[in-house]
Amino acid sequence: MADLEKMKEAKDFYSDIPMENKPFFLRGSNSLDWGMQNRFSRIFNPESGRTVMLAIDHGYFMGPTTGLERVDVKILPLLGSCNALMLTRGMLRTTVPSSFSGGVVLRASGGPSILKELSNEHIAVSMEDALRLNVAAIAVQVFIGGEYETQSVHNMTTLVDLGNRHGLPVLAVTAVGKDMNRDAKYLRLACRMCAELGAHFVKTYYVPDGFETVTSCCPVPIVMAGGKKLPELDALTMAYNAVDQGAAGVDMGRNIFQSDRPEAMIQAVGAVVHQGMQPQQAYELYQSLKNDKKQVEVAP
Ligand code: R5P
Repeated sequence: MADLEKMKEAKDFYSDIPMENKPFFLRGSNSLDWGMQNRFSRIFNPESGRTVMLAIDHGYFMGPTTGLERVDVKILPLLGSCNALMLTRGMLRTTVPSSFSGGVVLRASGGPSILKELSNEHIAVSMEDALRLNVAAIAVQVFIGGEYETQSVHNMTTLVDLGNRHGLPVLAVTAVGKDMNRDAKYLRLACRMCAELGAHFVKTYYVPDGFETVTSCCPVPIVMAGGKKLPELDALTMAYNAVDQGAAGVDMGRNIFQSDRPEAMIQAVGAVVHQGMQPQQAYELYQSLKNDKKQVEVAP
């Protein structure tokens, strides 16, 4: 029984200080519940409002992709330099230490391999398992214009319903098929559809012409997908342009782990995303980190 005698009188009511009601720092996310916002804060840095997500989920349809043959050897050293890690539950459970304190964005759709029709995906993770893994979000591929467009949209809306019930954000990943134009008009359609149908954030590609129209008419945060490996300066320029034109960060894979020095590259990307460092300066940072055997870590 608590001691009720000689209790200190409560007196610090600060009646002259109105209680603040701060909006949540991410676009379109004000009305989300506390748990959902807390999970978002594991993915996005609340100071910069942006994220560097490291995408290593390629194996879910491509097998051991170049640079990801040994996640334990090549990727674990990068974990201190990203805000979030996007991967499958198999790789998470087998290879990533449970002490990892960044956000985990779990790949939750799958099915076909690169040998088959890629849009024929189904939901590949139960909500129960995602919650057991304590992930910060789940990711689902959406194939607008693809052969199995409706099925992939249905995968997303099913996960959104479950995510809303359990406080878990859903990342819609807009896939661009072989026959589709990767232009701003297509990306506006795909991103807006995902947001309208309930996705909490969207991953999409950068296009040099009109990307700012893709971000401005999408009411939830957009993170830029990396795509195929580019020369480092080009990849840093693309990341700079994407955040400058409204992206809330990047979700890059091959442009980081297929770089000559992934540790240096991810830190240069982080400087662009969080500090707004100009591409040329970030490239010089990459070069100096690359040549520095010791490698100073920059916090994400
Ligand atoms: C593709 O749509 C998947 O999400 C990828 O496996 C991955 O995220 C792609 O990353 P990147 O194109 O930057 O290598």
